[in-house]
Amino acid sequence: MSPAIVLSTTENKADVQSESQYQKGVKQLCDKGIKTLPNKYVLPVSDRPDTRRSGESYTKERNLKLPVIDFAELQGPNSSQVLRSLANASERYGFFQLVNHGVSSEVIAGMNDVCKRFFELSLEERVRYMSPDVSAPVRYGTSYNQSKDRVFCWRDFLKLVCQPLTDVLPHWPSSPSDLRNMAVAYSKETRHLFLMLMEAILESLGLRDPATRMAEDQEDDSILKEFTDGSQIMIANFYPPCPEPDLTLGMPPHSDYGFLTLLLQDEVEGLQIQYEGEWVTVEPIPNAFVVNIGDHLEIFSNGRYKSVLHRVLVNREKPRVTVASLHSLPFNSMIQPSPKLIDSMNPRRYMDTDFATFLEFISTCEPKNKNFLESRKLT
Ligand code: OGA
Ligand code: NI
Repeated sequence: MSPAIVLSTTENKADVQSESQYQKGVKQLCDKGIKTLPNKYVLPVSDRPDTRRSGESYTKERNLKLPVIDFAELQGPNSSQVLRSLANASERYGFFQLVNHGVSSEVIAGMNDVCKRFFELSLEERVRYMSPDVSAPVRYGTSYNQSKDRVFCWRDFLKLVCQPLTDVLPHWPSSPSDLRNMAVAYSKETRHLFLMLMEAILESLGLRDPATRMAEDQEDDSILKEFTDGSQIMIANFYPPCPEPDLTLGMPPHSDYGFLTLLLQDEVEGLQIQYEGEWVTVEPIPNAFVVNIGDHLEIFSNGRYKSVLHRVLVNREKPRVTVASLHSLPFNSMIQPSPKLIDSMNPRRYMDTDFATFLEFISTCEPKNKNFLESRKLT
């Protein structure tokens, strides 16, 4: 055997070994104190964060002040003005910050803290929850779509399905010992907030009368009833410090599938959204939720509210933890444009869609940008 061949076999062995290491996530790579980013995470130049543009006098990336919706004001004398801001934010940005939302700061701090502690458990504890099954009630994983991504993202996550609670709860991690209690309290409060927020969204779309708090007709209220047994999935994201943050992303550009996502960010920046053709960073506001419109609400609103692309940057110094709560109709419901939002000026823009179609879509192709939503568009 020539020395060259011996060399390449050892290289291959190392590759196979590291490939299985990468499947266990980025936290353990960070813990090893790596100084350079392994190739597995290096994005092609065109997909990199591009924080410093060439040419022009582009010095600092843009930070964005998202519209801030004061949820308590929706109940007061200013409600019609707040509904207009809500509509405007949902049309222009697909995102807003929600303050005075009524979810207690203890529940928020408790959830953030217990998620941090979950990612600090030993690797052996965490990998017990790894599963290739995308609909498992609990799933620990890494990257975005671990079985499909060629280049991995700098992110580990814990996904908890929240319905039906009595069935899923015994599968949720039993350590840290307070995780189940904290996550149940958090899921109940965010779910309640989602339901109230959907009432406001329906009002802002002209589908409910804000004065009487009633639907224009029975049909419009049926969707609110459906939401009471709707689906909820919580995802705790962990982005450890990264040795070369300019070469990779914490999450690739994507849109969320549901009606609304309620995102809790800690004080570390990272989330960016597409706005006027640029990537802009969303400034964290302590205790606020970043709320965004998902694909299902874009479809339901017949394109009036936008499901906007977003991505996550990582940094060299600070770990970042976020919790996303994704809400939609029950998994077997059909999502379609509201008949009230279709007329001769606004023809129907999307096909009917269900969750099974979405799952099939993501399991057959690499999720990239908004290709699922694109596939549901009528031309
Ligand atoms: C998500 C998401 C953003 C973040 O979980 O879908 O977009 O900042 N998260 O973690
Ligand atoms: Ni998202």
